[in-house]
Amino acid sequence: MKNLGILLSGRGSNFEAIAHNLLSGSIPARIAVVVSNRQDAAGLDRARALGIEARCLPSKGKDREAYDRELVATLQSFGVDIVCLAGFMRVLSSTFIRAFPTRILNIHPALLPAFPGLEAQKQALDYGVKFTGCTVHLVDEGVDTGPIIGQAVVPVLDGDTVESLSARILKEEHRIYSEAVRLVVEERIRVEGRRVRVTS
Ligand code: GAR
Repeated sequence: MKNLGILLSGRGSNFEAIAHNLLSGSIPARIAVVVSNRQDAAGLDRARALGIEARCLPSKGKDREAYDRELVATLQSFGVDIVCLAGFMRVLSSTFIRAFPTRILNIHPALLPAFPGLEAQKQALDYGVKFTGCTVHLVDEGVDTGPIIGQAVVPVLDGDTVESLSARILKEEHRIYSEAVRLVVEERIRVEGRRVRVTS
């Protein structure tokens, strides 16, 4: 049984979607710990409500390397094999990335490589694209640049606001993130350069 570690900074709806799929037995893994860099992250309460270990490691004022070492030590103390970033609003250092080689996943609310970084849904609306979506990818040392495991396309409608578009994208995020976690847990992905191949 693989141990997942979830890192989040806020609401935690992607974490919750993954947790429900795990608890229903459809993904053969368990969430060993949820860690937030923010004390006020609602995701921490959501984790505790599900009986999942939840820790806050405040990042404010800390040097990135030192913070990431602390984060790695916490995850390792829970025997974490796979790390899922679920709205974790920090860039990870190479120290962190090297500790979990090709075992760190992230969800981004756009069709990468379009609209990386912050406020991806607003970027898409401002640009005027007709379709956007979401991406699950492996994390490398860039910002939203790692090899792509899965994507879903979401149309942009005429009357969309950032909120309505974000809500439509979020539904797809919940679906594709759980699918990607399953593939990684089942060791069904193979990385060949930038391309991720799924084996059956
Ligand atoms: C999600 O929309 C996720 O894609 C986004 O933060 C939100 C977290 O929601 N992540 C990023 O923008 C990372 N660049 P959640 O806390 O409800 O899962």
